[in-house]
Amino acid sequence: MKHFLSINDCPAEQLKELLRISAKLKSLYSIGDRDLCLSGKVLAMLFEKPSLRTRMSFHVAMTDLGGEAIYVKPEDIGGLGKREPVKDMARVLSRYVDGIMARTFEHSTVTELAVFATVPVINALTDWSHPCQAMADVLTIEEHCGRLQGVKIAFIGDGNNVARSLAFACAKLGMKMVIATPAGYELDAESIQAANQISADSVSQTNNPNQAVAVADIIYTDTWVSMGQEDEKQKRIKDFAGFQVNSELLKSAPAGAKIMHCLPAYRGYEITDEVAESHDSIIFDQAENRLHFQRALLKKLMS
Ligand code: CP
Ligand code: NVA
Repeated sequence: MKHFLSINDCPAEQLKELLRISAKLKSLYSIGDRDLCLSGKVLAMLFEKPSLRTRMSFHVAMTDLGGEAIYVKPEDIGGLGKREPVKDMARVLSRYVDGIMARTFEHSTVTELAVFATVPVINALTDWSHPCQAMADVLTIEEHCGRLQGVKIAFIGDGNNVARSLAFACAKLGMKMVIATPAGYELDAESIQAANQISADSVSQTNNPNQAVAVADIIYTDTWVSMGQEDEKQKRIKDFAGFQVNSELLKSAPAGAKIMHCLPAYRGYEITDEVAESHDSIIFDQAENRLHFQRALLKKLMS
């Protein structure tokens, strides 16, 4: 495993191995033990967009494993691909650090970094995908459901980067996913086809949220307005009416279905405060598992 760019590039066995390492490191760290496998190693973290969870959890994961992380804002370096080509940045950074993680607008920026870097490159969210989030989500689902095989996820809202990575994870790991979006906000047909080629009928779409949640073990939502879509905010708020995860929608779902959200959550829009704070909400376990999954990922790629 050289880079971590998209879940659909990774063999299922590799994903399962990462989940096993995540669980092992999680229990090791919970008893105060440490694995210092990245002692002396440095990770460069390039961010074109804001972040709380990704930035902090990668930084803490590197420190936990004995290494160091350097946070780089686009303004510090004159923009990604602006002051100098991405391919030059990739080769220069490869001479200084042992790994590069990047959160970018265009997915092609991380793939280009990976082509030219001689160190591992990690996708920390692009407009197209968010694989670290999906793997932390899978770890959380396994902990709460006791299994992955046959788990049913209803994703309510936008057919976005988070939905896409989760769809690939479902296809690779034996889960089923129904994505309920307003018309015009579906996940692209190519991604659905790719998921269903990995595992037939693993991912489907509907425009009916009540139908989507009817047999769900997990009800997942994300913002209606992803980073970079701020200009569309007013239109999106109108278009997504009826796609809020609220107590009314949950009447159509099995009792005890778990509520997930990658965060940040915009309460009163895609989810109500009541549901986000409810007993069945596992959103903070998800956020915590970013750290545990990323320790495993960094260990696998960089040690
Ligand atoms: N879920 C997630 O990636 O959060 P941040 O944008 O805060 O990193
Ligand atoms: N879909 C959201 C996820 C944030 C973690 C975005 O891209 O802004």
